[in-house]
Amino acid sequence: MTISSSERIDVGILGATGTVGQQFIRLLDRHPWFRPAWLAASERSEGRAYLEAAAWRLPSSIPAGIADQRVEACVPGRGPKLVFSGLDAGAAQDIEPAFAAAGHVVVSNARSFRMEARVPLVIPEVNADHLTLIAHQRRERGWTGALVTNPNCSTVVLSIVLAALRPFGLSRVMVTTLQAVSGAGYPGVPSLDILGNVVPFIAGEEEKIESETRKILGAIQDDAVVPHPMAVSAQTTRVPVIDGHTETVAVAFERAPSIADARAALAQFRGRPQELELPTAPAAPIVYLDAPDRPQPRLDADRGCGMSVTVGRLRTCAVLDLKLVALGHNTVRGAAGAAILNAELMKVDGWL
Ligand SMILES: NC(=O)c1ccc[n+]([C@@H]2O[C@H](COP(=O)([O-])OP(=O)(O)OC[C@H]3O[C@@H](n4cnc5c(N)ncnc54)[C@H](OP(=O)(O)O)[C@@H]3O)[C@@H](O)[C@H]2O)c1
Repeated sequence: MTISSSERIDVGILGATGTVGQQFIRLLDRHPWFRPAWLAASERSEGRAYLEAAAWRLPSSIPAGIADQRVEACVPGRGPKLVFSGLDAGAAQDIEPAFAAAGHVVVSNARSFRMEARVPLVIPEVNADHLTLIAHQRRERGWTGALVTNPNCSTVVLSIVLAALRPFGLSRVMVTTLQAVSGAGYPGVPSLDILGNVVPFIAGEEEKIESETRKILGAIQDDAVVPHPMAVSAQTTRVPVIDGHTETVAVAFERAPSIADARAALAQFRGRPQELELPTAPAAPIVYLDAPDRPQPRLDADRGCGMSVTVGRLRTCAVLDLKLVALGHNTVRGAAGAAILNAELMKVDGWL
C-alpha cells in the first residue's frame, strides 16, 4: 500500500521524552505514512523544547523539526487522532483511557491494559485478527477512539518463535531471559548493580511473559480471547547488555517436529505484515542463523532494522522436545517498532 508523503497522517507521542518515546521519534521521522506532529510527557517536561526535556540517548541526532518542538501535557483532545504511547505504566493507567474516550486511537506499549478482555494485545504476524476486539471495546466503553497494546519486550520475542512452531501443537514452554538494561528505561538500573553482574529478578516480568504469551496465541471466541492452553514457565534476568533481549527457550509439542522441520517452520514463518508489505515489516519476522555461537545482542539485535527476531542453536532437549536461543531488539520490536507496525495494520484494516 503506497501513501504519498504529502498525505502523511499527523500522529502524537505520549511519553515522547522517554527511552521508548525516543525510538518512536527516530522511527517515525522518515515514516512514509505517519508524521510525528505532537509530543507530550509529564509536568516535568511540559512547555520545554524537546531538546531540553529529553535525555536523548540514541546514536542518531534528534531529527530536524523535533528538537525545537514544545512538549505538551498529556491532555486529551489537543493532539492528533492517532497517538502512540510510551508512557510509564502508572501514568498510562488514567491517561490512555481518557484519550480513547475523547476519540483518540491509542497504540500503547504500557502494560496497564494489555490483559483487559476487550483490549487487543497484538503482534501483527501472530494475531492480527485480535483487532476485532476494538468493536466490542467501543460498544462496551462507549469510546469513539480505541486502545490497542503491544506486548512486553520479552513476550514479543517468545510469541513470534512460538507462533512459527504452533502447527506442531504447543504443549509446554520454558523460557529464561537475559534482558538488556535499556528495557528498564532511563536512567534505569544503577550502574553499580549491573556492571559485571546478573540480576535474577525483574519485578512482574515473569508473570507478564506467562500470561501475555497465552493471550496472544489464544483464539478469538465471540467478544474475547480464549488463552492458549499451553503451560508457560518464565525466569527473567537483567544482564549488562545495552540493547537486545536474549531468551533460551525449550518447548514440548503435541506432535514433536524433527529439527529440520522446526528449522524450516521458523525460517519460513511470515504473517500479514509481510503479505501487505507494511512499511515497518521486516522481510522475515525470524532470521535463523546456523553458526553455533549466534544469536548475540551486539551482532544481531538490529537485524531487519530491529524488527526481526534472530534464532539459532535449535537442538533436541533431554527434558522437553526442542530447545533454541532467540533474540529481539527490546525498544524496537519490543516497543516502538511493534506499536508502529500495529498502527500500520490498523490503517490498512480500517481501524484508524
Ligand atoms: N524500554 C523498553 O525496552 C520497553 C519495552 C516495552 C515496553 N516498555 C514500556 O513502555 C513504557 C515507557 O518505557 P520507557 O523505557 O520509555 O520509560 P522511561 O524512559 O522512564 O519514559 C517514561 C515516559 O513517561 C513519561 N511520564 C512519566 N510519568 C508521567 C506522567 N505522570 N504524566 C505524563 N507522562 C509521564 C515520561 O515523561 P518525563 O520525561 O516528562 O518524565 C517519559 O516520557 C513503559 O510503560 C514500559 O513498561 C518499555
